Amino acid sequence: MSSKKFITLGAFVSVAAAQSAVWGQCGGIGWTGATTCVAGTTCTYFNDYYSQCIPSTTSAPTSPTTTATTTSSAPIATSTVGLHTLAKSKGKLYFGSATDNPELSDTAYVSILSDNTIFGQITPGNSMKWDATEPSRGTFTFTNGDVIANLAAKNGQLLRGHNCVWHNQLPSWVSSGNFDAPTLTSIVQTHCSTVVGHYKGQVYSWDVVNEPFNDDGTYRTDVFYNTLGTAYIATALQAARAADPDAKLYINDYNIEGPGAKSTAMQTLIKSLKDQGVPIDGVGIQAHLIVGALPGNIQQNIEAFAALGVEVAITELDIRMTLPVTDALLAQQKKDYQTVISACQNVAACVGITIWDYTDKYSWVPSTFSGQGAACPWDANLLKKPAYDGIVAGFGA
Ligand code: G3I
Repeated sequence: MSSKKFITLGAFVSVAAAQSAVWGQCGGIGWTGATTCVAGTTCTYFNDYYSQCIPSTTSAPTSPTTTATTTSSAPIATSTVGLHTLAKSKGKLYFGSATDNPELSDTAYVSILSDNTIFGQITPGNSMKWDATEPSRGTFTFTNGDVIANLAAKNGQLLRGHNCVWHNQLPSWVSSGNFDAPTLTSIVQTHCSTVVGHYKGQVYSWDVVNEPFNDDGTYRTDVFYNTLGTAYIATALQAARAADPDAKLYINDYNIEGPGAKSTAMQTLIKSLKDQGVPIDGVGIQAHLIVGALPGNIQQNIEAFAALGVEVAITELDIRMTLPVTDALLAQQKKDYQTVISACQNVAACVGITIWDYTDKYSWVPSTFSGQGAACPWDANLLKKPAYDGIVAGFGA
């Protein structure tokens, strides 16, 4: 049974002090801090739970939450068990979250992220990607990735590496370099071996290849596929294995949560790699899902991957909704989180679950899907939503 928090927005407007800094929060249900912004920035509404001070030149302001005077309520979670502790007690390796460097100056956020009873694993959301690690050919930067790796080590958390080869966040020197096949092969080898090698011994598993497929199961026609065909996949995996023989090597994709053409294509690829003796240890099922619209047979799909002799992880779970948030949507979201977690829980080869950041405050969803959000188990005020109880229930607790 969920308890309720009741907040009158008009009330906290009157107690707000000072002004929020650029990029700071300036409104939202439950927000008790400043509701005006420093000069040159505008308090910009993103959703009922979050408004932010955006530089006035960045985008046109919309209605700030500070003008709201209505009373709002939202159910919150009642479970107190730590999700990682629970996952471990149920035979899983970890429950984890993605994070990103800009968020690490938020002490309240870091305090929850660093609680290893809740999160036993973290994934850098951006800082190990190609644009972050090799922005120009042969020049490697690991500063931000190291911050996340060191945080995981300090907290006693497993680290997932994300990622070596992906069509997105790929510097133009790679995507528009017009390299011939031998040169691009060498570039992939150098990138994967240098990045994976840098984190040797620190990473539980690497998303070596990210999102190689289109939704219809054909290969994505990015610079790697167009120049090298599917060979780039084996090249990347082999380089990663040589660089860190103890890291589990994954291929990671979205829309492979349920049976279908894309999941079948991934299974065919895994079989083919295994037949060729190419190192492949796991399949990452991203699981960027929609409330009330989960694919059927998630468990059966995980079992199909497991039957190929690889482990499986849910690597980027979030379940978004069309805003505004309602109690009914939160209740459905709770059920949907439970469904995904129980599908993993019921298959031994499914080793762990990572949510794609734990709070709506830092979710990628609203900036990508206009009018959608509230996808995470914690709200933008770092309060646990009913989804948290759904996760607990999914583990069978
Ligand atoms: O680094 C620049 C910064 O210099 C600039 O000032 C700022 C202005 O917008 O943009 C910054 O880049 C942003 C980057 O995140 C780092 O913060 C990009 O605009 C933004 O598009 C990018 O979004 C990331 C997205 O991948 C890119 O595709 C999200 O944070 C990240 O959560 C998301 O993660 C992906 C997984 O890697 C793969 N699966 C899907 C998942 C969600 O899209």
